[in-house]
Amino acid sequence: MSKTRVLTGITTTGTPHLGNYVGAIRPAVAASRNADVDAFYFLADYHALIKCDDPARIERSRLEIAATWLASGLDPERVVFYRQSDIPQIPELTWLLTCVTAKGLMNRAHAYKASVDANLAEGQDPDAAITMGLYSYPILMAADILMFNAHKVPVGRDQVQHIEMARDVAARFNHLFGQGREFFVLPEAQVDEEVATLPGLDGRKMSKSYDNTIPLFEGGSKRLKETIARIVTDSRAPGEAKDPDSNALATLYRAFADEAQTKVFRSALRDGLGWGEAKTRLFDCIDEQIAPLRARYEALMAQPERIEDALQTGAAKARAVAAPLLETLREAVGLRRFRALAQNTEQVQTRAATAVPSFKQYRETDGCFSFKLMDADGRLLLQGGRYSAPRDAGQRIAALKQGASTVPLADEVLGDDVGPAAVLAALALLGQE
Ligand code: TRP
Repeated sequence: MSKTRVLTGITTTGTPHLGNYVGAIRPAVAASRNADVDAFYFLADYHALIKCDDPARIERSRLEIAATWLASGLDPERVVFYRQSDIPQIPELTWLLTCVTAKGLMNRAHAYKASVDANLAEGQDPDAAITMGLYSYPILMAADILMFNAHKVPVGRDQVQHIEMARDVAARFNHLFGQGREFFVLPEAQVDEEVATLPGLDGRKMSKSYDNTIPLFEGGSKRLKETIARIVTDSRAPGEAKDPDSNALATLYRAFADEAQTKVFRSALRDGLGWGEAKTRLFDCIDEQIAPLRARYEALMAQPERIEDALQTGAAKARAVAAPLLETLREAVGLRRFRALAQNTEQVQTRAATAVPSFKQYRETDGCFSFKLMDADGRLLLQGGRYSAPRDAGQRIAALKQGASTVPLADEVLGDDVGPAAVLAALALLGQE
């Protein structure tokens, strides 16, 4: 059985936090170890340009995110791990897809609509600050996926619509240019319901946009400890019973501890564990897991060329898949080499050269002999006269081929819509033989 190709993109903006690790990185690394899976994971750095026009941040963020994935156990030997911007076939495919994507489909994209709504709510022009990058983003994402014929695309719920759009665009392209061939696999979104969403410092979902994140590696264990200390709790004093579900601590704890440890932690809170002590236990638990990864992360960040090498190896593997498919697609839409076109022209000429007019001699039902001159397509150009001997008919044919002065003779009839010039042209062709 062939393996399932699983592909996902990681937008390279921001600094990875615990929520990214638990919600995306850790499960994706685990899934990539599955022997039935052919995993393609990439840094969506073209996507990052949509949201950020600060080159230094772009550069920093993609390096940090690459290092984070490698340090978290992604094995670049087993997974095709690459940067989107190292695969020129992706933007090229984006354009081919753009040309078959209905504008109306893009109008319906949630991300774009949300931006329009926000503009309207502020009394602004609906398109204020909306770039074509944001608008066309789902087409770039479709190209990311279709370029590698991914079967499954693990994504968050907010991305499901984009996968559906990729299917639409793929089906349309297959239909328009495939002539029965299917260039693209229709991808399926894979939304993992099991994966925990971590709460942030204020109890809402941990997210950069709420500014409530706990960094994964940045700032080391010191920073981790300080940030955990800022998790919002109530004013219950040590010794007072606490509801483990009324704050973020127990949920964060569970994401890093096993079941038995989690149980102990929760009952300690109910038994009056102080918030300060609870935070120390939470820090110890997370740091124990993160510390070895952080050491690898720091080593990688100190040698960016090692990261570069890993990504270049991945990019070469990815291009080896992308390039032949793109060639096929270019061919399919008509972007063909002129060499091939020259061959076609030759074929056309050969056909014209071999398709010459011809004479057909025959005997009428009444016993007379006659002939017809037909053009290459079998149309009647000239109906011959009536001769009592086949030799006489043959002589008239020979005279016509040699350029007879008069066409038609009195008893010859031109075909429908045929002028003498057409007959002379046909005879000139025959005369060259
Ligand atoms: N848009 C995705 C996100 O914001 C990232 C992404 C880009 C992606 N290209 C992709 C995900 C292709 C899956 C497949 O999360």
